[in-house]
Amino acid sequence: MSARIISGQEVALQIRGEIRQEVEGLKSAYGISPGLVTIIVGRNPASVSYVTGKQKTAKELGFYSVQEDCPEDISKADLLALIDRYNKNPDIHGILVQLPLPGHINETDVLYAIDPDKDVDGFHPVNMGRLMIGEALFYPCTPYGIQQLLIRSNIEIEGSEVVVVGRSNIVGKPVAMMLCQKAKGANATVTICHTGTRDLASHTRRADILIVAAGRPKAITADMVKEGAVVIDVGVNRIGMTPEGKAKLCGDVDFDAVREKASAITPVPGGVGPMTITMLMLNTLNAAKRSLKCQ
Ligand code: GUN
Repeated sequence: MSARIISGQEVALQIRGEIRQEVEGLKSAYGISPGLVTIIVGRNPASVSYVTGKQKTAKELGFYSVQEDCPEDISKADLLALIDRYNKNPDIHGILVQLPLPGHINETDVLYAIDPDKDVDGFHPVNMGRLMIGEALFYPCTPYGIQQLLIRSNIEIEGSEVVVVGRSNIVGKPVAMMLCQKAKGANATVTICHTGTRDLASHTRRADILIVAAGRPKAITADMVKEGAVVIDVGVNRIGMTPEGKAKLCGDVDFDAVREKASAITPVPGGVGPMTITMLMLNTLNAAKRSLKCQ
């Protein structure tokens, strides 16, 4: 059996169409556009590429978007002052500080500084806590994208065995927390595996839905996957350059071997990646809609 390929590109396009319509509605009814600022510190090539993609999509969808490029050696005080300016700017509904930050800036301090109502990444500790108790204002973008990809691909989540490989604050922990909530599109039995897990394969082989965010190419091989499982590959590993000078990417899953065993699988690129950016846009749209209700 060769697995169905779940195209994040296609699902993302569908959601972007829905967002575009809502943006036009907001503009004509209230004269506002969702406003997003992306803040980047330094010139890490992966971060630059992610932020460029976010800005491009925001513009395509008719958002008001601003890009702040900060020098690598910006002081924490100056970065916090910049964030505070956007906290107070009524034209901006979403603030995103691209991670990772240089070593001299404490990430948690920066995440705390963002107004939770504008925290479209969903990384503020208040929003993380709200997610845990099923009261989220914003879902972190990659977990939200994974859940939407599963729902819109008609994959049964409720009652299924979900195994998450990786416990990052950006993907592993929040996706596990979302999928175990007593809610539609969730209600799964969730296991989180990580570098301290003793026998990883014994867990991954039980998964109906295997979500891999390990940060290591080919961390998941075919013998670690149950026949007929759904495999979501969150990995983005840069393994060289194409002749055209673009980064060559691969996921955390041995795609060619695992696709012969799985019932459905996401590719890299074109799987989770386009969904992450799209959910950032959806969060920003929702922040703009909430700001109207708060006026
Ligand atoms: N770095 C890697 N992924 C993300 C993300 O989703 N948001 C931000 N702000 N930084 C990241």
